[in-house]
Amino acid sequence: MNRSSTSIDDSLFSQLSQFLSTHMGLHFPPERKYELIRGIRSASREFGFQRVEPCVRWLLSAPLGKSQIETLARYLTVGETYFFREHKMFDALEKRILPPLIRSRARLSKRLRIWSAGCCTGEEPYSIAILLTKMIPDHEEWNITIMATDINPQFLRKAREAVYRDWSFRGTPYWVKDGYFDRVDGGLYVLKQEIKKFVQFSYLNLVEDIYPSFYNEIHAMDIIFCRNVLMYFTMEQIKRAGERFFKTLMNHGWLIVGSSEASHAYFPQYVNVTFPGAILYRKDEDCREPFKIYIPESEPVKENLKEPIKTVPSKSGPVPTPVQSTPLKSESRREKTVPEKTVSDNDSSLKKAERFYQKGFYEETIQSVDLHSVRSSGNTDAMVLISKAFANQGRIKEALDWCNQAIGVNKLDPSFYHLKAVIYQEEGNIDQASAALKKALYLDPEFILAYFTLGHLTLQQGKTQESQKHFDNAFSLLETHDQDDSVPGSEGMTVGRLREIIQFVKNGELA
Ligand SMILES: C[S@@+](CC[C@H](N)C(=O)[O-])C[C@H]1O[C@@H](n2cnc3c(N)ncnc32)[C@H](O)[C@@H]1O
Repeated sequence: MNRSSTSIDDSLFSQLSQFLSTHMGLHFPPERKYELIRGIRSASREFGFQRVEPCVRWLLSAPLGKSQIETLARYLTVGETYFFREHKMFDALEKRILPPLIRSRARLSKRLRIWSAGCCTGEEPYSIAILLTKMIPDHEEWNITIMATDINPQFLRKAREAVYRDWSFRGTPYWVKDGYFDRVDGGLYVLKQEIKKFVQFSYLNLVEDIYPSFYNEIHAMDIIFCRNVLMYFTMEQIKRAGERFFKTLMNHGWLIVGSSEASHAYFPQYVNVTFPGAILYRKDEDCREPFKIYIPESEPVKENLKEPIKTVPSKSGPVPTPVQSTPLKSESRREKTVPEKTVSDNDSSLKKAERFYQKGFYEETIQSVDLHSVRSSGNTDAMVLISKAFANQGRIKEALDWCNQAIGVNKLDPSFYHLKAVIYQEEGNIDQASAALKKALYLDPEFILAYFTLGHLTLQQGKTQESQKHFDNAFSLLETHDQDDSVPGSEGMTVGRLREIIQFVKNGELA
């Protein structure tokens, strides 16, 4: 092999490595130089270059488009996965995490929202769907959402097909293959439709894309799985993802990372809960100090871990992580930080509420405004913020109530109807969501996001022709904007990005 055609000097390598970290989160320190060159060599050919160096210079010369990221993802990411990977984590989920969650939801909303971030070819989200249908006998009556996202569209295409070989079942309990797949010619296993239908796949780059977001359904999650993805990221990108996951979780929701990725240094804002053989992270808005809990085999999980649980030394063998219990921050923190409010305080308390909201403290957002004076002031910005904070906690009734109050003050603002639609969508009420979107479009026939959301809703209902029409409308309205403009009302999504997302849906689900 002609070495000069495949190598790059250290300075170019370090620029490339920095570039990949910024755009894809991927961490290539000097010791992984040859691994990176190997991947880039294959990508170069696909980009039409004979030699690696000009290809690298070309990549560095302009921002990456989605199709370039896709090609790089194909050669630089690792697609290793299988059903029920890391069984101790699934044990913790089945025996400790899900039972209290399911019990409490069975009494209330019958609603569960789970996100598999970095889902690869689908084995992880489908394992979750299998477990949930096994644990919830009346699952057909529930509103269960499992979002599954990845940066590699080839993996996503395979995930949507849901056809697997034996290799995807290595180490998987036998009942999974026997009970949930149909064996077909060629040694293939096809996942049953009754499981497949629970999972929605979409493209999402954990480093560049926006989450939480009401517009791609990535919000108000009970559990986020992001396993064996962050291990390839730089430390800074891991921390940033951890912060964004925090905002995407409901209070008391769980973040699950791979066993080799668990480190309190990366996820300082979470309560670190150690189960036998598995470390999980829990969002608790009342806890702002590093806090660790160790739960041994025999001890049940409290339904609500708000109260500090005493750390318990392991009976057999060493405790997996050094356990140190720091008391929860003063229970009176709220009284201290949130003084009695008056109408004249409203501006400053709204600003404070916005800051809490930005950080993902949704409970605190609501606590920090005087609901009564917001109601009487007619301040629609505050009403919308409160509505979103409730929606982010899965408190649909209150979210709708506050959204309706904003509509009561100003019936002509289309964005309020869009918010209402998103809340209905979260509740699984597709008809009401569609009606609200149509109202939004009646008020503003150029409302790009309303077409986009309507496209998704109608797709979910199997109305592909109608869906195509809505996506086309959104797409042609996007043409009238610059790529780098922010889509109106989208909280920062660029026009270019939304175009790519629509294109991806049209190529995948509408093809
Ligand atoms: C090793 S697989 C893990 C699959 C599964 N979570 C598991 O634990 O079995 C890593 C996945 O992360 C995805 N990935 C890597 N970088 C990503 C990024 N920046 N955004 C989203 N997904 C990414 C890869 O495409 C790949 O599918």
